[in-house]
Amino acid sequence: MRYRMLGQNGLKVSVLSFGAWQIGDPNYWGPDSQANANAAVQSAIDGGINLFDTAEMYGEGESERALGKALGKRRPAVLIATKVSPEHCEPMGVRGACEASLQRLGTDYIDLYQVHWPVRHTPFEVLYEQLDSLRQEGKIREIGVSNFGSGDLANWFSVGSAISNQIGYNIAFRAPEYAVLPACRKFRAGTLIYMPLMQGLLAGRWKSIDEIPRARRRTRHFSGRREGTRHGERGCESLLMETLTALSQYAQAIGIPLPTLCLCWLVAQPGVTSAVIGARNAAQVRRNLQAGDLDLGPAAIAHLNELTWPLKSRLGTNADMWESTANSRLR
Ligand SMILES: NC(=O)c1ccc[n+]([C@@H]2O[C@H](COP(=O)([O-])OP(=O)(O)OC[C@H]3O[C@@H](n4cnc5c(N)ncnc54)[C@H](OP(=O)(O)O)[C@@H]3O)[C@@H](O)[C@H]2O)c1
Repeated sequence: MRYRMLGQNGLKVSVLSFGAWQIGDPNYWGPDSQANANAAVQSAIDGGINLFDTAEMYGEGESERALGKALGKRRPAVLIATKVSPEHCEPMGVRGACEASLQRLGTDYIDLYQVHWPVRHTPFEVLYEQLDSLRQEGKIREIGVSNFGSGDLANWFSVGSAISNQIGYNIAFRAPEYAVLPACRKFRAGTLIYMPLMQGLLAGRWKSIDEIPRARRRTRHFSGRREGTRHGERGCESLLMETLTALSQYAQAIGIPLPTLCLCWLVAQPGVTSAVIGARNAAQVRRNLQAGDLDLGPAAIAHLNELTWPLKSRLGTNADMWESTANSRLR
C-alpha cells in the first residue's frame, strides 16, 4: 500500500480508503450485517488501509455505529473521517453533531471532520469558528470540506483552512479536472475521492442500463427521463456503455481487472490523494487492494485518458454528478 500526505502538514493516508456508507445504510445498499462489516474492516486494516470515511448522514448514524464497533480496540491505529450534515451547520449546531458522532463512533476524537456540503445559510466564517474551537479542544484533529467547487474553496480559504476536499470523481466522470482539482492544488488541500467505482458500474457489474439498480442510475450520464434523476439533461447512455466496453477490452488486453484499472487510473491523477472505496464485505475489499500498489505507467494512463475523452467532453465542466449546470451545487 502506498501512502501520501493529505494536505500540506495534514495526515498520512493510504492511497485507498475505506468508505463506510455501505456498512450501515441498508435502505440504499441492501441488507448488511455487523459480521460482514467487521470482516470488511479487518481486511482493509490487514491490507494497509488506514483511513475510514463515514458521515452522520449515512443510515442516520448507523454507518458511524457499525464502523466504531468494527474498529473496536484498533481505533488508535487508524484515522477516522466523518462529516457534519448541512442541517447541523447552523450557528451552534456543529458541537452537538460532533459530540453525537463521537458517541456513535465510540471514540473521543475524530481525525478529520468534514463539512459534508457547502452551506448557504451560515457564513463560512461562523462555521469555521465552530470547527476551530472543536479542534482546539481536541475533539477533532483536522478540518476538511466536501463537495466544494473552486469558488467555495476560495471563499473558505479566505476565512479559514482545510486539509482536504472530498469530491466525486472517476474515469467516467472527469469534470473535476477543469476547475475543482486545480483549485484544490492551489490551496494545497488534499483530495479524498468518492464514487471511484461509480457505485459498481466501473466494476463491470452490469451489461445494460436496465440492469443497473435504479438508485445508481441517476447521474448526468443517464437520461433525465429516468426515475429519480433531477438534472433534466439528455444524458449520454450509449456513449457511457461504449466507453465501458472499451475500458473492459483494454483491461482484458493488459490482464488487469476492470475495477483495479479504474482505481489505478484515479489515484494516478494530479491532485488526487486517496480513493474512498465502498465495500460491503471482505472479498470486495481484498479485490480492490491491488490498486494500492500498482502503478500503470504513463503510456497506459495516456491511453485511458484518450479512451474516456469523448465522455469527458460530453459531460462538460459541471462537477456536480447529479444536478444540471444551472443547479450545480459545486460552485
Ligand atoms: N462526500 C460525499 O458527498 C460522498 C458521497 C458518496 C459517497 N461518499 C463516500 O464514498 C464511499 C464510497 O461510496 P460510493 O457511493 O462512492 O461508491 P463506490 O466506491 O464508487 O462503489 C462502491 C460499490 O461498488 C461495488 N464494489 C466495490 N468493489 C467492488 C468489486 N471489487 N467488484 C464489484 N463490485 C464492487 C459495491 O456494490 P454492492 O454494494 O452492490 O456490492 C460497493 O458498494 C462511501 O462509503 C462514502 O464514505 C461520500
